Amino acid sequence: MSALTNDLKKMTELAESSPAQNAVFREKLHLMPPVGWLNDPNGLCQFHGVYHAFFQYSPFNAEGGVKMWGHYTSENMIDWEYQGVMLYPDQPFDCSGVYSGCAFIEDGEMHLYYTGNVKLEDRDDYDYINTGREANTVLVTSRDGMHFSRKRELMRNTDYPDDLTLHVRDPKVWKQDGMYYMIQGARTKEDVGQALIFQSEDKVNWSFRSRVETAEPFGYMWECPDYFEVNGMQILSASVQGLTGGEWDDRNVYQSGYFRLEGDILGEYMLSDYCLWDYGFDYYAPQSFETKDGRRIQIGWMGMPDCEEYTNRTLEEGWQHCFTIPREVYIKDGRICQRPVREMDEKKRRISAASGHLEDEGHPVYEAYVSGITDGKFRAVLGGELILEYRDGRFEMRFTDQDMHSASAGRGVRYVHIQQIENVRILTDVSSVEVFVNDGEYVFTTRYYPEKASVCVEAEGADIELSAILFTSGPAESVSEIGIG
Ligand code: FRU
Repeated sequence: MSALTNDLKKMTELAESSPAQNAVFREKLHLMPPVGWLNDPNGLCQFHGVYHAFFQYSPFNAEGGVKMWGHYTSENMIDWEYQGVMLYPDQPFDCSGVYSGCAFIEDGEMHLYYTGNVKLEDRDDYDYINTGREANTVLVTSRDGMHFSRKRELMRNTDYPDDLTLHVRDPKVWKQDGMYYMIQGARTKEDVGQALIFQSEDKVNWSFRSRVETAEPFGYMWECPDYFEVNGMQILSASVQGLTGGEWDDRNVYQSGYFRLEGDILGEYMLSDYCLWDYGFDYYAPQSFETKDGRRIQIGWMGMPDCEEYTNRTLEEGWQHCFTIPREVYIKDGRICQRPVREMDEKKRRISAASGHLEDEGHPVYEAYVSGITDGKFRAVLGGELILEYRDGRFEMRFTDQDMHSASAGRGVRYVHIQQIENVRILTDVSSVEVFVNDGEYVFTTRYYPEKASVCVEAEGADIELSAILFTSGPAESVSEIGIG
């Protein structure tokens, strides 16, 4: 280990050894940074039977700083154990951040591909788009998921097409017909977002192959592209920057969604319209992987970059952001839906059930499932501050008071038009809410900061079931507890 790596390790461990005391908004089920800042999920996989989730991590700065890869493991995707930092920004080719990337598993070996970010010294003539930065593609491997090889720089900006800016990043790798393919996000010099495809015969030597783009320009940059199939349906996911005007003005600053792809991603293809993975306030940069039993699992970052109005109350506690619950992506009647992983069901304990109206207090971690909704009658108030409501043909998530110094931070309301609603599943943790409408065809995710845990659901004629979710110590908490949400 180099002297720099050694010092970074010591500094990280020091920061992690003094987390904020009396932090009240720490989550119980959702992955958070032990201290400091978390953003994208990285390197998601199941390896030798164990689930691995790496994350963009800045332990020294809860408002974001130089990124490294923190690491969690789990047997069931619900109870996670923190394993420390696996990749530090300690090489000339990743010194400004070990940026996002993926895991590719083959022959008992974990391959982690990521972007080594380099920001050159501050100079007035650098715009950090076409000049002043590097995006390097890097590989490390591991046989046990805990110890990693030396880093190998595989590609630099000069290996990417000439018409691109220096913004190329976030590799995701898959294998098809004996060949390896890597998709990366990119921004052209004309400020058009697109994905690039590279190919390799040996997972080490890569060459540019083709692009995936929309017929008309769609945003100026695509981040964290992901390509996978569910039940034969081809899905291209991308986190898109620069969508403005019309409906986008009512939405988040950046978007995460997917195109359905018809044809051959490596040849002739057609992309559908772009659909959002999530309509809530806090969702970005999802990544997916396939489990041994063939499920497609996706995890998103429950946060939003570059959103000026956004302040997060956990900053006072020295940390910021968390992941969504791992979600199964599945197809229902030809539609792409999401639901919390079924492993969560084993943690549920029924508290109460009612028809039409249900109220409860004192359980911060719970699932409320409302089914058999008729005539679109549905309204729920969570923690006295977050309203979920179906009215005038649209499903809304909004805060009772936009000036309240809570998650909304002036961000107002999020909505989607839905013709008919049938069921709503609400999953709350101490400071987050995920809402799955119509079996997860539409999803809303947000952070929230209730003074007191409470829920009130009104849905005339519908069945409402409330279950607490058992948790054994929150992720990354030093104090072990067994609780009931
Ligand atoms: C998305 C993103 C990625 C990048 C990473 C850096 O949130 O900007 O494109 O690799 O975060 O933390």
